[in-house]
Amino acid sequence: MHNHRFFFLLLVLQFLKLCSSFSSNPHHRLFPCKPPHHSSYPFCNTSLPITTRAQSLVSLLTLHEKIQQLSDNVSAIPRLGIPSYEWWSESLHGIAINGPGVSFDGVINSATSFPQVILTAASFNRTLWFLIGSAIAVEGRAMYNVGQAGLTFWAPNINIFRDPRWGRGQETPGEDPMVASAYAIDFVRGFQGANWMSGSGIRNRFGETRVLKDDDDGNREDDDLMLSACCKHLTAYDLEKWKKFNRYSFNAVVSEQDLADTYQPPFRSCVEQGKASCLMCSYNEVNGVPACARKDLLDQPRNEWAFKGYITSDCDAVATVFEYQNYTKTPEDAVADALKAGTDINCGTYMLRHMLNATKLGKVQEEDIDRALINLFSVQLRLGLFDGNPRKGKFGSLGPQNVCTSEHKKLALEAARQGIVLLKNDKKILPLKKNEYSSLAVIGPLANNASKMGGGYSGIPCNPKSLFDGFQDYAKETSYTAGCLDVNCTSDVGFDEAILTARKADFVVIVLGLDLTQETEDLDRVSLLLPGKQMALLSTIAAASKEPVILVLTGGGPLDVSFAEKDPRIASILWIGYPGEAGGRALAEIIFGDYNPGGRLPVTWYPQSFTSVPMNDMSMRADSARGYPGRTYRFYTGNVVYSFGQGLSYSNYVYEFLSAPNKLSLTGSLQAGSGRKVLHQVGDGLDYVNIDEVTSCDSLRFSVQISVRNDGNMDGGHVVLLFSRVPKVIKGTPEKQLVGFDRVHTTSYGSTTTSILVDPCVHLSIANEYGKRILPLGDHTLSLGDLEHLVSIETN
Ligand SMILES: *[C@@H]1O[C@H](CO)[C@@H](O)[C@H](O)[C@H]1NC(C)=O
Ligand SMILES: *[C@@H]1O[C@H](CO)[C@@H](O)[C@H](O)[C@H]1NC(C)=O
Ligand SMILES: *[C@@H]1O[C@H](CO)[C@@H](O)[C@H](O)[C@H]1NC(C)=O
Ligand SMILES: *[C@@H]1O[C@H](CO)[C@@H](O)[C@H](O)[C@H]1NC(C)=O
Ligand SMILES: *[C@@H]1O[C@H](CO)[C@@H](O)[C@H](O)[C@H]1NC(C)=O
Ligand SMILES: *[C@@H]1O[C@H](CO)[C@@H](O)[C@H](O)[C@H]1NC(C)=O
Ligand SMILES: *[C@@H]1O[C@H](CO)[C@@H](O)[C@H](O)[C@H]1NC(C)=O
Repeated sequence: MHNHRFFFLLLVLQFLKLCSSFSSNPHHRLFPCKPPHHSSYPFCNTSLPITTRAQSLVSLLTLHEKIQQLSDNVSAIPRLGIPSYEWWSESLHGIAINGPGVSFDGVINSATSFPQVILTAASFNRTLWFLIGSAIAVEGRAMYNVGQAGLTFWAPNINIFRDPRWGRGQETPGEDPMVASAYAIDFVRGFQGANWMSGSGIRNRFGETRVLKDDDDGNREDDDLMLSACCKHLTAYDLEKWKKFNRYSFNAVVSEQDLADTYQPPFRSCVEQGKASCLMCSYNEVNGVPACARKDLLDQPRNEWAFKGYITSDCDAVATVFEYQNYTKTPEDAVADALKAGTDINCGTYMLRHMLNATKLGKVQEEDIDRALINLFSVQLRLGLFDGNPRKGKFGSLGPQNVCTSEHKKLALEAARQGIVLLKNDKKILPLKKNEYSSLAVIGPLANNASKMGGGYSGIPCNPKSLFDGFQDYAKETSYTAGCLDVNCTSDVGFDEAILTARKADFVVIVLGLDLTQETEDLDRVSLLLPGKQMALLSTIAAASKEPVILVLTGGGPLDVSFAEKDPRIASILWIGYPGEAGGRALAEIIFGDYNPGGRLPVTWYPQSFTSVPMNDMSMRADSARGYPGRTYRFYTGNVVYSFGQGLSYSNYVYEFLSAPNKLSLTGSLQAGSGRKVLHQVGDGLDYVNIDEVTSCDSLRFSVQISVRNDGNMDGGHVVLLFSRVPKVIKGTPEKQLVGFDRVHTTSYGSTTTSILVDPCVHLSIANEYGKRILPLGDHTLSLGDLEHLVSIETN
């Protein structure tokens, strides 16, 4: 029972705290459409359609005021009661410090730090991705309500992790377009508030790259946005600095085929099914034209993917069109080209500075600016920014009490548990039995630093803890030593102490790998090996310790640790990415057997020899003529250290196909009357049909029923990955491609079933050299671990 008087006192205190937080933040008292003086404009009238309100607002502005809107940092329009607004806030894996829209200097001084995206992706759990998006949105709205964040965030980063050296690969969901699409859809839907909107609680779990049909409009979600998410960076952006190339001027030369089946699908899904309200165009050029000035590229989302939202440039990417790329002769041409191509807002001040002269020179018409403004204001309107006091709105009650909640912190822990990947476990040394040892040594320059847990785009965690803290909370006697001074590990000064520490312990956990000094924005790696003398440290410790050691690898990018895979003195290898604020606890739980690992690598781990591949070569497909090995599991045929999807468990799993068709007939699904005309023959007599010529993909869908048996004595989450291998009818056919995935819960010695829906038009088709999808006829192989099942696609 509550003590009522005490409870009341608490309420009063809470209220006073709220009032003081409001008055201490001057920005907060300002909001558009504030009564009594500024609430009667038509753009404040919530009964009118969004576009009408946006048009009305634009019609009230002078040219000068309009130009002031074309920056992330927008100045106020006092005569209309519109305060300034900062469009740029960041939230890849928690509210982050990187954008000027966010401040941790106020009543809210921390926010939940989820694992960096690459580790969360390794969970292959769509529900988790959705819930993380939702949790970040709650914290973002809460911070907005106390004046510490905007409503527009520039996440997720869904560029394909094409090259293992890429410094920002860690921010992405990995190398597979289907996984990246699925991640984009669920993160964005959670983030933009699908959890909160009526009638839209059920997520579409199918058809990540499905073509939008007219009749899909019927279930189009409400226009309302809790927060605005931004799919970045459109497109083919995945190089920071390599040799003479850097991201500000790099010209990504991309084939239609690679664009269609690798670079674009995540963006299409993010928009079409995630319903993202923002896209960011990238710094790089795409086939000779800066992405932010490529009209065809920026038109496609609106014309073909039903995009409703605004397009921002990456920061100063409009300036680079002139300054770095020399694509235009003048700054005025650069702002005109970007605006007319469809860039609505420029992160930075370049458009502010040069747009007036561009209009004077006739390079830009006022209607071009109006179009951008309508896109921008429409998103702000959908966010409720012009509905009056935000405290009275649907999300008005969110505040400090909704940030760093035990529920969110538990979700951060859950994400780290589900993502961590067990790569090696000789003689089942793991899990360690709690009562069979008395001491544990934790060694490594990364093991005792709470500020390295989140990777790029981190905020201030609720509860900063290092990996060592996680072990200390867990195990009996633990000791720590760094071994190297820092991650670079340029000297062996700490080795002797590390040897002593290792000798005294029953078991040794050695934490090595990468941090942001090795891989980050503006910094690609040049090597895939462990930095500096880390490898020497590992061998030294492995030789000195009583038992074979447990190697824990940090970082987002793949590492060539083949020496450790082969070395019997290194019994186990775990990859933990950047595991976020609860990563230490999650790792300890896994090592001591309180959680059964089930994460899978979302990227291929290549050997060091891969660094001879030019990083600027965007081609996905192998080309033996020039000794080019291809990229990602879909095209690369060389040796790997670990493959895409690799990940062990403390259980063994056994699969069975319960049901899947052996034959699929296209009869009745091809364009009427055209009969054999739609069949296309290639050299060796194999046939295919163009997807455009299939009248009904829906009727061709089938589901594959799968049974998963856990042959072990621990329950566990298990990721089912279903691949297809299509007949190689054309050049550039992938070796295999992911059809679907599901993370299932399994009980010890129990069986569970799942079904994966297959749309042959999407999952069994491939892109041709013109970027059009074709469906090969003949035997398609579905594979599940070592199991295979043939489906023959025929026209009769
Ligand atoms: C808001 O718009 C509706 C629909 O046009 C109109 O009926 C109503 O009078 C407007 N309200 C105000 C306060 O102008
Ligand atoms: C935003 O613009 C205002 C002036 O309008 C300026 O005082 C402020 O420093 C700017 N903020 C950033 C982050 O550039
Ligand atoms: C652009 O021009 C500048 C100076 O004119 C030059 O230094 C730079 O190398 C050029 N950049 C490119 C990408 O051509
Ligand atoms: C705009 O044009 C005027 C007149 O030609 C010139 O004086 C001014 O420097 C230009 N402004 C910018 C920012 O280039
Ligand atoms: C932890 O890492 C941060 C950021 O890299 C660094 O500034 C700090 O010195 C490190 N702290 C320790 C105790 O090594
Ligand atoms: C680490 O090493 C790299 C490459 O050897 C070097 O560029 C970088 O400056 C070093 N960083 C630190 C923090 O020592
Ligand atoms: C997926 O994640 C959610 C949220 O953490 C969790 O409740 C669920 O158990 C996970 N599914 C599996 C099979 O692990």
